[in-house]
Order: sequence, then structure tokens, then C-alpha cells
Amino acid sequence: MSAVTDPHDLVDKVVAELPERLPAQRWFGGKDRPVTSVRPLRTTVLGEDPLLVHLVVEVAQPDRRAPYQLLVTDLAEDYDATADPELAGRLLDLVAEGAEVDGLRFAHEPGVELEAGLRGRPITSEQSNTSLVFGSQYILKLFRKLTTGENPDLVLHRALHRVGCEHIAQPLGSITGELDGEPTTVGMLQQFLPDAVDGWAMATTSVRDLMAEGDLHADEVGGDFAGEAQRLGQAVATVHADLERALGTQRADAGDIDRTVRNMVARLDSVVAAVPELRPYVPALREAFDRARDTPGAVAIQHIHGDLHLGQVLRTVQGWLLIDFEGEPGAPIAERTALRSPLRDVAGMLRSFDYAAHQLLVGQPEDHQLAVRALEWSRRNRAAFTEGYAEAAAESVGDPRGRGYLLRAFELDKAVYEVSYEYANRPEWLTVPLSSIARITGEGVR
Ligand SMILES: Nc1ncnc2c1ncn2[C@@H]1O[C@H](COP(=O)(O)OP(=O)(O)O)[C@@H](O)[C@H]1O
Ligand SMILES: [Mg+2]
Repeated sequence: MSAVTDPHDLVDKVVAELPERLPAQRWFGGKDRPVTSVRPLRTTVLGEDPLLVHLVVEVAQPDRRAPYQLLVTDLAEDYDATADPELAGRLLDLVAEGAEVDGLRFAHEPGVELEAGLRGRPITSEQSNTSLVFGSQYILKLFRKLTTGENPDLVLHRALHRVGCEHIAQPLGSITGELDGEPTTVGMLQQFLPDAVDGWAMATTSVRDLMAEGDLHADEVGGDFAGEAQRLGQAVATVHADLERALGTQRADAGDIDRTVRNMVARLDSVVAAVPELRPYVPALREAFDRARDTPGAVAIQHIHGDLHLGQVLRTVQGWLLIDFEGEPGAPIAERTALRSPLRDVAGMLRSFDYAAHQLLVGQPEDHQLAVRALEWSRRNRAAFTEGYAEAAAESVGDPRGRGYLLRAFELDKAVYEVSYEYANRPEWLTVPLSSIARITGEGVR
């Protein structure tokens, strides 16, 4: 294609085509509604030949407007500069130089020296942002949907690194722009772990091994995951303790707990209005949420991960790492940065073990033998994870098993969220959270 020489012409073209192109981008978070209009908020020219332009646009949809970040070039048919290894490398060089271009600030963390001149390639895994990998050293995450201010992913990584946390990838640099007159994180550079395997892949492989093993039980087959699950529990508890050391802890008062319970009930009401399959469980769910008020002793609240599941943990030669401290991408920023009980993260991980076990049953609900094995795998690994967590838990948090009502309420709240998600996106998966809700409300507190 012919090169567009004027950056403004390029931006005009991109903006004009975006309403049609956006729904096909996997990082676009507004696929549920049409795009009504796109307008450029800020344009920064980072390179002239070939053109490399940093662009922040506002995407308008019915009842919603959100800023998104793009890197565009005239070199590619789809204008996407992140797919071009040389242009991606330019971003790393700017961070290494500590450059500032028209208010866009590229910085390395204090004391960090970066190798420049590396080419960058986008990672291929499904993600809500876009990450570029440089050699086997660095990974740069470009946040797609922007939130005004410092991104919690960067804030929490810095805080954890400051106290020497061993279960994160070291933060190495950042890119900061401006949104609504406030400095706003648009990128984060981190140490890349080339040998990392993600927790979801490991866990589901273990489940598949068990299913293939005929009569053997989870503790007898080669792919047993319980040792890993226990070490993962220790890692999560250690990260919580490190977050507490770095940023402090508070005690939830009666008002906080009341608000938490009311939010869970409100979510239940809104989900049940849309998903009739949830109706039979409403009385038991309401009772379980109400029971969270009966949690004995003080409930600690602090900064937590906020969106913890097996896809947000990496197994490396050094052990388990937690990544992506941005919180639930769909939730409002006030909720994502609020102090919350670490048991929410524990509940998130327990739900994820349940998912890893039961996803193989989707599409074959009448296979009783498989169902028994899935439950066995889930029980074994959930118990191992909780055991590991208890071994390394900070005093303020304690053993999750001593906070059964609260933990159960958090788990059920998450499962209610999953019901709404599956109903909207993968109706054939609805049985996974629904059967968990049936089981958890039927069992009582362990
Ligand atoms: N430090 C790292 N080393 C190796 N791989 C990583 C690292 N950080 C992220 N990844 C890979 O990139 C994927 C997406 O990263 P994540 O931070 O979760 O992005 P997103 O916010 O888009 O979910 C992860 O699932 C993992 O496969
Ligand atoms: Mg992620």
C-alpha cells in the first residue's frame, strides 16, 4: 500500500475506519453494543519514516464512552504498529532512553538499565490488553482501555517489588500519558519469564490425565497437581502478606461488611432477573450472603489482586508468580482499588480449580464417571491450595478455613457473576457455575 506521509491524514483514516474495525479486535471491551462514533483525544508522533503514531481515541457507544489506546503506522494494511517488530522495538528504545515526546513519558524504573535495539513481537495468548515480548528479556503491556490515573497493575507491582516480593515479575519501566488532565499509565514494562507455563494450562492437563486414567484416583496418577496447588496457595498468601507490608491493612467495620453483603445481594437480584435458571437457588444464596455478617473476629481488608484465577499465575523454575494486578477489567476503578478481604482472591482461585475440573464435562453432562472424577480432582486441589495458603498466611488474615461463612459468600458471589457471564457468552457452560452453586449451598460450611 502507498505510504501516507502526513500523520494527520493517517489519524483521520484510522479514526474513520475504527467504528467498523473495533468489534473485530480481541482487546475491544465493548462488543455487546454498536460503536456510534470514534474521536481522537490525543495524537503523539513517535516516528516519521515509517510513521509511528501513538493515538488515544474516545469510543462512543449507547450509554457508554471509553478511551482506548492505539499505536498506528502507515506501513501495515490494518495500521497496527504493534505487529511490526521494528516499530515495537522503537517503544522499548524510548523506555531505555527515558524519552519524553509531547507529554508522553517513557521511563525505566530507578536503577534499571535496559538493553535497547531488540525487536518486539506480540504474544499470541488471548488477552484484554496487548503485550509485546522483546528477546527473552522483557514484556511490555500496552493497556488498551484506559483508566485515568496510575494503573493499579503498575502501582501494586512497584509496591511488591519495593518489599522484595519473590512471586512477581520485576517491573522495569512505564509509559505515562495524560487523560482528563491527569498523568495516566498507558504501558508497563516487566521482566519476561521465557520458561513460564500458565496455571490454567498446567491444571487442565492434570485433569485430562486423570480422566484418561480409567480406575486410578487423583493421588495415583502422574499428573497429580496437589503439590503445585499447595505451593500456589503459599505463593498467594505470601503476596498478600507482602501487599500488607507494603501498603498496610485495616479492619473492616460493620458498615464495610454490611455494604459487601448488600452488593452481593444486589448482584444476585440483577443476575436472577436475566437468568431464570438461577431462581431455585435464590433463598439459599441470600442466606449464605447474610451469614457473612456472622464471621467471627475482625476481618482484615487490604490491597489484593482482585481478579485472581489460574490464568493469572505462571509456574517458573523459581516457583509460582502472580501477574496482572489490574483487577476485573469490567469493574469500575473505585471498586478495583478499594481495600478488600484477601479471601476474595482465595475464593477466585477456588472457583478456578472448580472450573478447571468441570470444563471437561461441558457437552457430556450424562457421563457420571467423569463427573465423579472431576469432583475428586477439584476437592483434592482446592484443599491443597487452602492448606498451602494457611501455612503462609499473614496473622491478620489467618487460616481461610476459620472464616468459612465469609469465604463461602465470596465464592458464591463469584459463581453468580460467572452465571451472568456464561449466560451472555457461552450458554452451554452455564451448568459449571450452577452445579457449583447447588453443591456449595447444599453442603453448608465445611
Ligand atoms: N512476565 C511474564 N513472563 C512470561 N509471560 C508473561 C509475563 N507476563 C504476562 N505473560 C503472558 O502474557 C499473558 C497476558 O498477560 P496479562 O498481564 O494477564 O495481560 P492481560 O491484562 O491482557 O490479561 C499471560 O497470560 C502470560 O501468558
Ligand atoms: Mg490477564
